[in-house]
Amino acid sequence: MSVESCTEFLRVVGDDPGLRRQLRAMTGVAEMIRLGRVHGFAFDDRDLVAAAATDAAARLVPPPPRRAERPVPGFHHYEFALEEIPGFAPVLDELPHLKIRPDTVDLDAFDREFRDDDLRSTSAAPASAEFRRWRAGPDAPAGPNDARHFHLVNLDDHVDHPAYDGYLAAKNRTVAALEKVFGDEVRFSGSMWYPPSSYRLWHTNETQPGWRMYLIDFDAEFDDPAETSFFRYQRPGTSELVTLGERPRLARFFKIGQEPERLFWHCIVNPTRRHRWSFGFVVPDSWTDALEARR
Ligand SMILES: [Fe+2]
Repeated sequence: MSVESCTEFLRVVGDDPGLRRQLRAMTGVAEMIRLGRVHGFAFDDRDLVAAAATDAAARLVPPPPRRAERPVPGFHHYEFALEEIPGFAPVLDELPHLKIRPDTVDLDAFDREFRDDDLRSTSAAPASAEFRRWRAGPDAPAGPNDARHFHLVNLDDHVDHPAYDGYLAAKNRTVAALEKVFGDEVRFSGSMWYPPSSYRLWHTNETQPGWRMYLIDFDAEFDDPAETSFFRYQRPGTSELVTLGERPRLARFFKIGQEPERLFWHCIVNPTRRHRWSFGFVVPDSWTDALEARR
């Protein structure tokens, strides 16, 4: 185990377009360590942190967006049925391979982490006095990284199970298919499994601005289309809540901003008996043009 080994690994990745793309399919430290091991490099998470400060890592940082986008006043999200997006057939084909349930996840332990007060906090607008009181109170999560914010399973934290290799291969093919559609680099930003009664509490992602695309799917249709999982956001600059019910095979686009007065507060709740998966991507600002050109 060494920082040198990790730095050398990052150098090798930087020189190899195939490995660079593989890296764009990964979001977890455990995944990076595993990829290094597969290629003969031994390092741990502390080595990775140290190596991240070197020039070898700087080469792997994605470039800033290539062009400014045209702001569309009043629009904060877009949704499409996956079947309707031109060029997305190969992406749709990968969904069954991405929707895994690692056997290293203990769902009974997961259920014990559920907190009704945390769930209830998703009903109050972040700008409301009620929410601010709760967040400043003694029963709120300790800070933005408190595990209570994430009552879900981050699939990329699980690399030691039999389905991982097939899952990683599907992620790689998905990046390749999306880069073909968008004509630019695309990166996974998070691969989440929301079992029944799961949630992600209010947050802004303000440290990672830009457009996101989420591909969302389920283990089966909802029995009642009025009782579904949902994505909720606070309209930037207001205290108005927008709640988007969901359905299988959905793509959602939204933009993360950094202006303090116009942050994109959002949360996700799956209060149903269905299993929900969401795969997030950083997409180029020009994504609308890319889709328009294919229509
Ligand atoms: Fe988010």
